[in-house]
Amino acid sequence: YATSHDADLVVIGSGPGGYVAAIKAAQLGMKTISVEKDPTLGGTCLNVGCIPSKALLHNSHLYHMAKHDFKHRGIEVGNVSFNFDAMMKYKTNSVKALTGGIAMLFQKNKVKLVRGLGTIVAPNKVEVKGEKGVETINTKNILIATGSEVTPFPGVTFDEKQIITSTGALSLPSVPKKMLVIGAGVIGLELGSVYQRLGADVTAIEFLDTIGGVGIDGEVSKTLQKILVKEGMKFKLGTKVMGVKKEGSVVKVEVEAAKGGKKETLDCDVVLISIGRRPFTAGLGLDKVGIALDDRGRVPVNNKFQTTIPGIYAIGDCIHGPMLAHKAEDEGIVCVEGIKGMPVHFNYDAIPSVIYTSPEVGWVGKSEEDLKKEGRAYKVGKFPFLANSRAKTNGEPEGFVKVLADKATDVILGTHIIGPGGGELINEAVLAQEYGAAAEDVARVCHAHPTCAEALREANLAAYFGKPINF
Ligand code: FAD
Ligand code: NAI
Repeated sequence: YATSHDADLVVIGSGPGGYVAAIKAAQLGMKTISVEKDPTLGGTCLNVGCIPSKALLHNSHLYHMAKHDFKHRGIEVGNVSFNFDAMMKYKTNSVKALTGGIAMLFQKNKVKLVRGLGTIVAPNKVEVKGEKGVETINTKNILIATGSEVTPFPGVTFDEKQIITSTGALSLPSVPKKMLVIGAGVIGLELGSVYQRLGADVTAIEFLDTIGGVGIDGEVSKTLQKILVKEGMKFKLGTKVMGVKKEGSVVKVEVEAAKGGKKETLDCDVVLISIGRRPFTAGLGLDKVGIALDDRGRVPVNNKFQTTIPGIYAIGDCIHGPMLAHKAEDEGIVCVEGIKGMPVHFNYDAIPSVIYTSPEVGWVGKSEEDLKKEGRAYKVGKFPFLANSRAKTNGEPEGFVKVLADKATDVILGTHIIGPGGGELINEAVLAQEYGAAAEDVARVCHAHPTCAEALREANLAAYFGKPINF
């Protein structure tokens, strides 16, 4: 039938899941079409997620260092100030460069781009409604990579000026004086940090008693909270938000203790609501082809990313698992390899999580809380950055590395880092865990000196031998 098809694979959505899958499919010899409804490629991650947030995090961090940290290092720069418009422009340019880069990669790899909203009208047919009208594509396979959207807050309308989602927070016209953040998960902490560093009075309201969202180790969460509080961020934990109302230029947020009790109304100029994201499949036509979503609105797939309809696959934020760009990318690659008949294997226990605060937090695998819940016997190896020569010399001694290993076999079950470069360092731990390493394996690997990575080695040494060298 090959010649009767316009394509071997249509990928709906060009986020990190979809664009990577499309390139890989083309590299494997499939005639591949990418369908995207938005004017630029790259999805949430490149346009309104990972990339713009990291541009603002990095530059606000540099400003904060110049303002509060340089002097004691012997660097004198006089009066430090910032130009918010220029900072935003820098962010916009970073995004432009990267989204444009995908268009070039598509050309290079011969991925055809069809712009418009894709709807699956039959198992082998996708209709795309774009500016040029409706285009129909016959295809052997379809990959759904339509991602996610912000979870709305019941009864609240976002104006993206004063009552904002992460998207509004990435494009504010000025730094608010007083900012409330609802949800102290990843977005709340990252974007809260940006505005706090730029001078806003930021308070994060969180339903749980811990910050950092799902999967973070309790000890890391507490340490991060302490450091952020020292920097000036405020937290109201164990607190429920009952309502959000605009009164003139003021936003009023009504809160109550999660366990019931005292009510309070807090005022702010801007409230950022970051209580999670949900899968996005509107307009896809899944009901017409007979694909039913699960109870959380996700597209159900098996371990080869196949939906219940042969030839239709799904990956990324719109299926199960953590909503992370690297998870979406890696699923995309193994999924299209599977379409080519290659083996499909995905290890959900070895997906890193990073919170790009200062210091950065990175982890992979189980937390202590997870292991306790499972009743698993484990050993802990901990090493503080205070005792790491590079971190200490760099004047970044806060935080630690914690390695959790199986008590009997020494196999690493989880690694948790809070400290300088934690988001880079975690990748070594992921490699170790992916290869099924024991703590002793990492402890015996030669690490360059002086580097912060030596703290990871020492924590592994502490886990397997009971004692590190330098602490
Ligand atoms: P998406 O990136 O959401 O892409 C889906 C694409 O599909 C979109 O372009 C959409 O327009 C398109 N689409 C949807 N339906 C259709 C249709 N019917 N027809 C045509 N096109 C369609 N993750 C990290 O790993 N690290 C981070 O640092 C990080 N930071 C983030 C910061 C913020 C503020 C946010 C909001 C998210 C962040 N994330 C981060 C999460 C990350 O952005 C997502 O996990 C990732 O983008 C998911 O990729 P995806 O390809 O599954 O979907
Ligand atoms: P999140 O799930 O990380 O955090 C949401 C927080 O809001 C949780 O702590 C939750 O307990 C709290 N919450 C929920 N309802 C609440 C309520 N009514 N009142 C008070 N608190 C409430 O979700 P977030 O921060 O919105 O981010 C969405 C997703 O985007 C993340 O899960 C992550 O997958 C992705 N992301 C990843 C980043 C990274 O990898 N560095 C950065 C930003 C986003």
